[in-house]
Amino acid sequence: MNINVIINPCGLEDLYFTNKTVVVIDVLRATNTIINALENGAKEVIPVAAVEFAVKVSGGMFGGQTLLGGERNTKKIEGFALGNSPLEYSDDVVDGKTIVFYTTNGTPAIVKAKFSEFLTVCSFANVSAVAKDLIKRKNDFEILCASRNNSLSIEDLVCAGNLIEEISKNRKNIALTDSANASVTLFKAMGKDIKKMLSETDHGKLLINNGFEEDIAFCSQINSSKAVPVFLNNSLKLS
Ligand code: MLT
Repeated sequence: MNINVIINPCGLEDLYFTNKTVVVIDVLRATNTIINALENGAKEVIPVAAVEFAVKVSGGMFGGQTLLGGERNTKKIEGFALGNSPLEYSDDVVDGKTIVFYTTNGTPAIVKAKFSEFLTVCSFANVSAVAKDLIKRKNDFEILCASRNNSLSIEDLVCAGNLIEEISKNRKNIALTDSANASVTLFKAMGKDIKKMLSETDHGKLLINNGFEEDIAFCSQINSSKAVPVFLNNSLKLS
């Protein structure tokens, strides 16, 4: 099994992902929000790559059953029902609903990988569940880190390293690229206290400054979910 980690989506053509197995990670906070929304009964999450597109997509859907969610610069977008705090996506709010979801880095990364043969999303919350699923599939796969502003996000790489370690414990003959090896090294060095690690990253500090400290605690939960969302026909659903 060959595993590669893509540090950020910058410069990659959408067609690069054709026929691949891909896991998108955006620990702070998009993939945690998606997992929590689906766990709490959302019918589906439709990730979109632009705010204007989110408004267009939701405009064509039945009112009441569709919620617009997401952020710009970490804050809720004007006119949207929900922001990008996973805690907002409680069952009383999202049960049975379609969420049209835009975030600065996370949802564009998912949309970028839309031609994948199999596409899922991961955070520390569902790392074991995703690892089990990938072991069953036996395919080579790529981990696409959403990161921030086409740079590098430590939290996404540490989560990628955690996922690779989970798989390595249960499977022999794994070949890692340099970026996959570096992710495992980062996980071993920084993965002991996830909450502390998240608080000390650039994105973590920004979230704390903007009043989202509770989200750091939420996003540091490990294996709290068994969800493996599957991207099919432009939307993420539980399989
Ligand atoms: C993103 O997609 O850039 C993030 O999820 C931003 C955020 O933390 O709100």
